[in-house]
Amino acid sequence: MTGRLILSIESSCDETGIALVEDGRRIHANVVASQVALHAPTGGIVPEVAARAHLRWIVPVLDEALATAGATVRDVDAVAVTYGPGLAGSLLVGINFAKALAWAHGKPLVGVNHLEGHVYAGWLLDPGEAEREMPPFPLVALVVSGGHTFLVEMRDHLDYRYLGGTIDDAAGEAFDKVGRLLGLGYPGGPAISRAAEDAVAKDRVFPRAWLGDSYDVSFSGLKTAARRIIAVARAEAGLPADEREGPLPDAVIAELAWGFQDSVTDVLAAKTIRAAEEVGARGIVLGGGVASNAALRARISAEAAARGIAMVIPRPGLCTDNGAMIGAAGARRFVAGERAGLDLDARPSLPLAR
Ligand code: KG4
Ligand code: ZN
Repeated sequence: MTGRLILSIESSCDETGIALVEDGRRIHANVVASQVALHAPTGGIVPEVAARAHLRWIVPVLDEALATAGATVRDVDAVAVTYGPGLAGSLLVGINFAKALAWAHGKPLVGVNHLEGHVYAGWLLDPGEAEREMPPFPLVALVVSGGHTFLVEMRDHLDYRYLGGTIDDAAGEAFDKVGRLLGLGYPGGPAISRAAEDAVAKDRVFPRAWLGDSYDVSFSGLKTAARRIIAVARAEAGLPADEREGPLPDAVIAELAWGFQDSVTDVLAAKTIRAAEEVGARGIVLGGGVASNAALRARISAEAAARGIAMVIPRPGLCTDNGAMIGAAGARRFVAGERAGLDLDARPSLPLAR
């Protein structure tokens, strides 16, 4: 290892992630302790429970990351940590841990915006992966996660111009809510994506909110429409209205999942491609948990290819929250000379760009 090594920590939501990343690209270790099983019974994240789980897992996750990379904290050039946006209690666990490590080992501390991490996941290379060139700027980045959905133009590293975003629910939030209505449990995104693969009939029409020429999107109307369409399907199947009183037949769930997913991917793909064309983007970068959705990936990739625009989509494990993406963004901030003090505080509503 000859490059600059960043130890990076992510704890903004329900994954405890710690990674070692060289020069903002090469992953040496990327350990994620997921709380999905912990939050499944409540059908969503309970902030108190999440913060306590981060406390429980952060030391073992660090130990495993160091062991995987064959490194010690002494070997790293800086400690990077997510300081927002996210759940205050969860963020504070990572921030305080990062401060303690940086202070005890005399390492510089770098604060990283979680959303910037999702963008920079596109730069990451897995341990054995061949070098891969990134498309030149300008780029358009679409971040679609459980808490955020927005499009930005990047004219250079760390330089964002906000193009548009959701005016109500995030895409992942819509997946999770509709997943619950379909009785698919938490989180709904992966379950809807799996169910949609089996769809045969594709006749139920889910609305699209185009919001004119803007790059904004809206998913709350779609969620309400999904509730109504699911109610109709349940009545047709002779089932009680409450989804807890017996599931729809698998074929109907598949059809509904496909229809909902098609509406989301249709709008996101169209807006992203139009934004890329308008700013003359040489590439499109996808990030965030919903970017692991196979239909969305395929749809945007096909449309970008038809226009000669390069696509950068991290593998699914790098789309969802992880420490390596914080190391990728943190390295850029570190090289740019940014340092955080020991007064670094959680910023639950930190924006990426306005
Ligand atoms: O980026 P992420 O791990 O956490 C946030 O920063 O929010 O995103 C989590 C979100 C959840 O809403 C989850 O349902 C969604 O990403 N998600 C998916 C898929 N995998 C995860 N949504 C659609 N299709 C998927 N395959
Ligand atoms: Zn995220």
